[in-house]
This record gives sequence, C-alpha cells and structure tokens, in this order.
Amino acid sequence: MTRRIDILTLFPDMFPGILGSSILKRAAETVTSPADPALTRDPVVSYHLTNIRDYTDDKHQKVDQPPFGGGPGMVIQCQPVYDAVRAAENADPRPARRILMTPQGRPLTQKLATELAAEPRLIILAGHYEGIDERVIEELAPVDEISIGDYVLSGGELPALVLIDAIVRLIPGALGHEDSAAQDSFTGSHASRLEGPAYTRPRLWHNREVPDVLLSGDHARIAEWRDQQALVRTRERRPDLLLPTPSDQLTTSSQII
Ligand code: ADE
Repeated sequence: MTRRIDILTLFPDMFPGILGSSILKRAAETVTSPADPALTRDPVVSYHLTNIRDYTDDKHQKVDQPPFGGGPGMVIQCQPVYDAVRAAENADPRPARRILMTPQGRPLTQKLATELAAEPRLIILAGHYEGIDERVIEELAPVDEISIGDYVLSGGELPALVLIDAIVRLIPGALGHEDSAAQDSFTGSHASRLEGPAYTRPRLWHNREVPDVLLSGDHARIAEWRDQQALVRTRERRPDLLLPTPSDQLTTSSQII
C-alpha cells in the first residue's frame, strides 16, 4: 500500500522542486511497464504539504511570537502546529509516526532511515526560527526529534527533505534497480563501510585507465576487489566507522562468557 508522508512547514514552496525530481518523483508515480500494461505498480509514496499558517486562529495570520524570558528570534506557537498535526492525522486512518526536525534531535543514521522506511505513515514537522513552543511537542508525544548533523540550518525544511530522500529510496519499488540501495555505504553487510570508487566509459580518459579487474568479467574477483577498496577507503577517510560499537562489544563479551 502507498505510504503517506505529510510535511508541515511555514515554507511549502521549498519542497516541490525536490519532491518532483528524480527518485522522489518516480516513487510518487504510478509506473506501468510499456511492454506489459498489466505490470503496473501503485505509487510507493504520496507527499502531502501543509502550510502551518493555514491553521492559525490569529486574525492577522501570525504563527510566531517572541520567546518568553527574552532572547533573539521568534518561537512558533502551539495552536497552529497542534491543529495542523491533528488535521494531517485525520486525513488517513493509519496511525502516523510524528517527527520533528531539530538540531537538538537524535542523529539521522542509515539504521533510523531503515526503521522509518517500514512505517506506513509519517508526519514530519519542519520547524523554523528559534524553534517550536515546547508544550506542543509534549502534547503530541511521542514525537521523534531528529537532527541531520551537528550544524544549524535556518530551518527544518532541508533536513525534512534529506530525511525523506533517505527513507523513500529504501521503500521496496522506489528504485528501478532493487540492488542499488543494498549496496550503499552504511547498508546491510556493508554496514559502516564507505563505498569504493566507481568507473564507466571510456576505458581510457586523460591517460587514466580503468582498473583491469573491472574489465575481467570475473564477478567473484570484482566483488572481492570492491570489498577491499571499500575497506581501504574507510580506513583512510573514516577510521571511526571501523571501531567496534557498544553492541559489538556486548556480543564479544557474551561470547567469551
Ligand atoms: N533545523 C536546523 N538545523 C537542523 C539540523 N541540523 N537537523 C535537523 N533540523 C534542523
């Protein structure tokens, strides 16, 4: 069944360009095989944009006020956010997971994206300004607060798009070639590994050759070479990814016992 993603924002115009391009666009389309029209798949996902401002009770359409206690910027008020979330929930009977994009959230990882790709419905709140009144986040609990990295952007819109891209490409049927997602860095048996280098035609360019092994046709050797390249690259660029994680340590010590 088609997954539904609601995006609640004060800047809906920031979304259509990216949601309407490439894989995110294709995932939202019905795809029919030209050779066999019976081979039709429903859209993998549907996107629903809501302008939080449309839900304000304020006669001047205001959605934000200065922070209590003073300080810079503006804080988005509870009422329009609460009503916009409840309206999105009521638009579909399936229970939705509520997500708030914020630099104070837990870091987005491939593992979290995979978990969210299994959800039938997501409601993603993109904050702006100095944040959203804490009380509405409490009232809507549980809300997954997610950060896309340790830097501060001017709003949650680009983070919401990053999250959607990371999720949608993992939903079965979204990518033309189902193997592609499984081969990515940070995925499956390649967990915590960067991908190695890729090459395409021509075989010789600016006097640089494609590694011989890739032209050998020997798939086992090619797979082994790619594995080794991935490891070399990870050691050089992200040695931190090769360190044991706390859960690895747990496995090791329980095996010793
Ligand atoms: N909003 C502003 N910066 C952000 C970040 N790094 N992650 C998620 N939401 C944000």
